[in-house]
Amino acid sequence: VSQLLSAPIAQYLAGLTPADPLIDELGRTGRARDLPLVDEPTGALLEVLVRASRATRVLEIGTAIGYSGLWLARGLPSDGTLITMEIDADRAAEAREHFRRAGLGTRASVIVGDAARMLHKFAGPFDLIFNDGDKRQYEPLLEGLVALLAPGGLLVTDDVLWGGDVAPDPDDAPPGDPEKVRLVASYNRRLAADPRLRTVILPVGDGVSVSVKM
Ligand SMILES: C[S@@+](CC[C@H](N)C(=O)[O-])C[C@H]1O[C@@H](n2cnc3c(N)ncnc32)[C@H](O)[C@@H]1O
Repeated sequence: VSQLLSAPIAQYLAGLTPADPLIDELGRTGRARDLPLVDEPTGALLEVLVRASRATRVLEIGTAIGYSGLWLARGLPSDGTLITMEIDADRAAEAREHFRRAGLGTRASVIVGDAARMLHKFAGPFDLIFNDGDKRQYEPLLEGLVALLAPGGLLVTDDVLWGGDVAPDPDDAPPGDPEKVRLVASYNRRLAADPRLRTVILPVGDGVSVSVKM
């Protein structure tokens, strides 16, 4: 559920977002278990970005149970591949089962491990990278992720508005999670200042940045 929009607008947008029965099931599971999955409009954005960029190799950091992965995979052509990384082995196993049920076969691989330790093992280039893991790793991983991106490739990062808390509160109310807000705000400044990237931040879901590598 978007934290940036009023509930009626968020519901309206979610209702306009075409999904499929498995995606809907995972969305319900995520809400019932309070898992931090992207919302439907963010999922739809991921599919559109994969299609618009004609991506065939996609990398995701932070699989959870495979919800955003299913949206990413929907955008891929039949010879496209998704590699997604998850530190929690139980969540990774659930994601594998969901990808199996989606009929993705060998087109989707779930790698269990810490993205910070595993990233150097991946061979680029990737056409699109979806960064949705540990917020403390957003900045430390940035160099490695940019290196793995193809020229013209997209780095898409979730939660960059952190419920709107990245913007200073006019009444000086303290943000809900000051440490996360500091980390995300610092990452946003790095993206904006990086001469290799052009970045736009969209108020979709919890805030999604889309950076193109020049
Ligand atoms: C926000 S959730 C991902 C949600 C998922 N992208 C979706 O929308 O369906 C973040 C996930 O990153 C995983 N994670 C945390 N630290 C990680 C790390 N160092 N390496 C890989 N995954 C990590 C967490 O276990 C969690 O499942």
